[in-house]
Amino acid sequence: MRETILHGGDMNGHHGGRAGQLNDRLPTLIAQTIEYEAPAVSYDEVTLPKTGGSWGAKFLQGRERLLPSWRRSRTAAVPSIPAVDVAEAEEFIRRFHAENPAAGDLEERLAQVHASVSRMGTYEHTFPELQWATRVAWRHAARCSGRDKWRTLRVRDRRTVSDPQEVAAETIAHLREATSGGRIRSWITVFAPDTPERQGPRILNPQAVRYAGYRKPADGITGDPLNIALTELATSLGWEGDGTAFDVLPLIVIDPQARPHMFQVPRDAVLEVSISHPEFGWFAELGLRWYAVPVITDMYLEAGGIRYPCAPFNGWYQASSEVGVRNLGDPDRYNMLPAVAAGMGLDMSSVATFWPDRAAVELAVAVQHSFRAANVMATDHQTEARRFIQFAETEEASGRPWCADWSWINPPISASTTPAFHRTYPDRLLKPGFFRHEDSRALMARGSDDGPPCGGSVI
Ligand code: ARG
Repeated sequence: MRETILHGGDMNGHHGGRAGQLNDRLPTLIAQTIEYEAPAVSYDEVTLPKTGGSWGAKFLQGRERLLPSWRRSRTAAVPSIPAVDVAEAEEFIRRFHAENPAAGDLEERLAQVHASVSRMGTYEHTFPELQWATRVAWRHAARCSGRDKWRTLRVRDRRTVSDPQEVAAETIAHLREATSGGRIRSWITVFAPDTPERQGPRILNPQAVRYAGYRKPADGITGDPLNIALTELATSLGWEGDGTAFDVLPLIVIDPQARPHMFQVPRDAVLEVSISHPEFGWFAELGLRWYAVPVITDMYLEAGGIRYPCAPFNGWYQASSEVGVRNLGDPDRYNMLPAVAAGMGLDMSSVATFWPDRAAVELAVAVQHSFRAANVMATDHQTEARRFIQFAETEEASGRPWCADWSWINPPISASTTPAFHRTYPDRLLKPGFFRHEDSRALMARGSDDGPPCGGSVI
């Protein structure tokens, strides 16, 4: 594979020759058979599957019981997009100018926005407005404990891109750029917005990298149970995984006409960490691994009345808690606590021996150690909680509206040993913000009607 690096927009949003640069790195579109040829320079457009319209129809046949809420949310395949709410647009512009006094003439900009909305039902954010919107959406993410870094978010401005193959290529380029060999940087790629004329693209996967989950009637589940529905959807579109516990799922992009397109994520775009323990030699034999960078792909950015339905963004992991305790430890995820406890030789005759607690801590230790040893940037729940408290104090002192969700800010282990536990927060919804698409929520619902809050994946 040629190592052509796609450079994203710089801080001013310039990144000339969008489509031209991409041709080197277009990912292979997976048709009925999956074969990744790297890199595909030309390709035939293939639309999958031919079931007459809505992208979910084929997958849903006979699975109505599996995903009822998902089905409900997909009743209209291509909803019409209403005109921008001019009051929201105005409030956004005013707040942008209030926080950015050097931004220019407020009244002039307001007049422009009003004129554009009454003419076309929408308006275009300037690059500084867009950048501010993405950063403030992060600042407003009530469940995110890493928000002290909100000003460092960098924008890849791809608002002209809605072709599914380019969306996939840009998302993979984002993943590579953000990974940066382990020196992770926070980026957001913003694709075409919804407008009254045209819907923007969508990515169905919750993240750019997700491991498949296979339901095996005989011996339970292999892989990540969270992604069973997505895996079945990919399979119904012609994907075939290797059947291991850590198969990277293909990206499924929904085009503006609501048709699905599926793309393999190249192996060399996915940095992974093998998990070992600093003291327990046997730990590596569990064969655990995790990917380095969480790039969230199923949330939309809403700012000033405009919705960007596809705006992948990433930070870096709070490895101990997110990967160790939750992804690998949760009973309905990789469920590794019993194996770890057994390896440690703990008395598992009763939960009152606290074997789950002790195993969870060692799983956290192992994951944190492994990310560090692999030189992959990551933080941990103890460090991050302290940074979060500083962020909370800064926001409170700033006079800006802010919010936090106590139950998500606190880590899943040892919460009371961190300062985040010992106080309360204003929990409310603020815009600009990131919000999860309704049908994505249903996709992660793991067979129950409503699933866990927010599908078990934090932002
Ligand atoms: N909790 C999610 C996961 O384990 C990732 C959410 C984003 N996390 C982050 N540190 N930026 O994959």
